[in-house]
Amino acid sequence: MRLDSGNKPDYLVLVNEDHRLPEGFADTVELITVANAMGEPIQVERKTYEAFLRLQEDLLIHDGIEAGLSNSFRTVEKQEEIYTRYTREFGPEYAAKYAAKPGHSEHHTGLAIDVGITVNGKFHRTIEELLRVDHLFQIVQKKLPEYGFLLRYPRGKEAVTRIGYEPWHYRYIDSPALAREITEQGLCLEEYCARCAVK
Ligand code: DAL
Ligand code: ZN
Repeated sequence: MRLDSGNKPDYLVLVNEDHRLPEGFADTVELITVANAMGEPIQVERKTYEAFLRLQEDLLIHDGIEAGLSNSFRTVEKQEEIYTRYTREFGPEYAAKYAAKPGHSEHHTGLAIDVGITVNGKFHRTIEELLRVDHLFQIVQKKLPEYGFLLRYPRGKEAVTRIGYEPWHYRYIDSPALAREITEQGLCLEEYCARCAVK
C-alpha cells in the first residue's frame, strides 16, 4: 500500500487488554511484504522493518548474534487462531500469558516484531526455545532503543502489561531518543502513556 506523505501512523499507539486497535489505524500504516528468517512471506510496517535490518546488522557484526524476523503484522483472525491454539495445546493460563486477545494485539499495528535467533544453525522461534536463549536476548535488548524499539513486555512489568516476559517481542516507536528515555526510566509503554495522560 502506498500512502500520501501526510498520512502517518501514531507510532506511540497503545494496544493492550484495555485498548483495542483504534479504528482506521490500518489505513495509516504502510505494510510491506518481506521474507522472514524461515523464508515465509510476512507483512510489517516499512520503517519498522528498515530499523530491524539495521539492528540485525549491528548484532551480527558486533556481537556475532544471528537475529531474524519471525513475524510481525497479524490480522484479528490470525490472532484468534493463535489464541485458540495456545488455549487448546497449553491451557488458558498460558494463552493469556503469551497471547493478546484478538483485536487487542499490537501485532495488528504492524509496528511489533517477534525476533528469533539462530543458534548452532537452528533458528529458534518457539516460546520455549526463545526463553532458553534469554542470555542472547539480553545483548539484543541493550541495543533496542538505538534503533527506535522498546522491549514491550519486560520482566517485572507483568502486572502492568498483563503479558508474560517476552524477550523477543519489540515495538517500534520511530524515535531512538524517546525509546532511550522510556527504557532508561524503566517504564513500560503503559506507564509512559499514563504519565503523558496526566501532563
Ligand atoms: N504475544 C503478544 C502479547 C501478542 O499476542 O500480541
Ligand atoms: Zn509478538
